[in-house]
Amino acid sequence: MDILNVQNISIQYGNDPPCVTGVSFDMTEGKIVGIVGESGSGKTTVVRAILGLLPGGGRISEGRVLFNGEDMATYSESRWRDVRGSGISMIFQDSGAMINPIRTIGSQYYEYIKIHRPDMSKADAYALAVDTLTKMRLPDGDNIMKSYTYQLSGGMRQRVGIALAMTFEPKLLLADEPTSAIDVTIQAQIVRQMMELRERFSTSIVLVTHNIGVAAYMSDEMIVMQYGKVMDRGDRDTVLNHAKSEYTRQLLQAVPEIGGKRYV
Ligand SMILES: Nc1ncnc2c1ncn2[C@@H]1O[C@H](COP(=O)(O)OP(=O)(O)OP(=O)(O)O)[C@@H](O)[C@H]1O
Ligand SMILES: [Mg+2]
Repeated sequence: MDILNVQNISIQYGNDPPCVTGVSFDMTEGKIVGIVGESGSGKTTVVRAILGLLPGGGRISEGRVLFNGEDMATYSESRWRDVRGSGISMIFQDSGAMINPIRTIGSQYYEYIKIHRPDMSKADAYALAVDTLTKMRLPDGDNIMKSYTYQLSGGMRQRVGIALAMTFEPKLLLADEPTSAIDVTIQAQIVRQMMELRERFSTSIVLVTHNIGVAAYMSDEMIVMQYGKVMDRGDRDTVLNHAKSEYTRQLLQAVPEIGGKRYV
């Protein structure tokens, strides 16, 4: 069965006209779907909508989202709490900024676990955090728990963000620009890390990125958005080699590696 079905959704903020229309895709276990497109095309809006976390009165105004076959519009607040974190989890576009610089990673990690598992003891929460950091290939989890963000490199901070999102081994990870705030050499490590999550935990990943090279490398299926609409959608090779829209073709032409078929 599909883990997630996004069925022809439109999204509206307040009384504004819909800023996203007609977005559909399905996620099976271990599948990676890449969403690409220019700034303001609605990528973040789509992934936030899936998790019911749209700011500013945003809502799905048409269509529906099914998680494990269940319509998420019918969820109670407590069902949402269960699903967020343990069923679906998100790496936010500004996740670096979300880690508070004046508190240790450990105290914030502990608080995150407490929200999702209020009954877990402090010792168990600590062990779970260190274990997850280690699984994310962060050496010396104990030391990271004691650290402040300024003591970690950009790549390490990003891994801490991924670790937080993977703590309860969600079936679905929504990753909003997970590699954009870090330099190119570390980007490659983060990409490998996410591919590994798919191998080891069969995590399905919705990957939002400006970087069409990263999307082309990682995705099974790609969605190209512009002005809140889907310009192209299909399996990766079809979108890369037989794009329907002029916009997608222009986007691909702007990336020399793709023209040279390095990723295809
Ligand atoms: N909080 C908000 N209130 C009202 N409208 C919003 C809000 N956030 C986004 N929008 C609308 O949704 C559109 C898409 O924004 P979104 O952040 O989803 O784009 P994006 O593709 O993620 O861009 P970027 O690549 O810059 O992250 C915006 O152009 C804006 O019209
Ligand atoms: Mg965005």
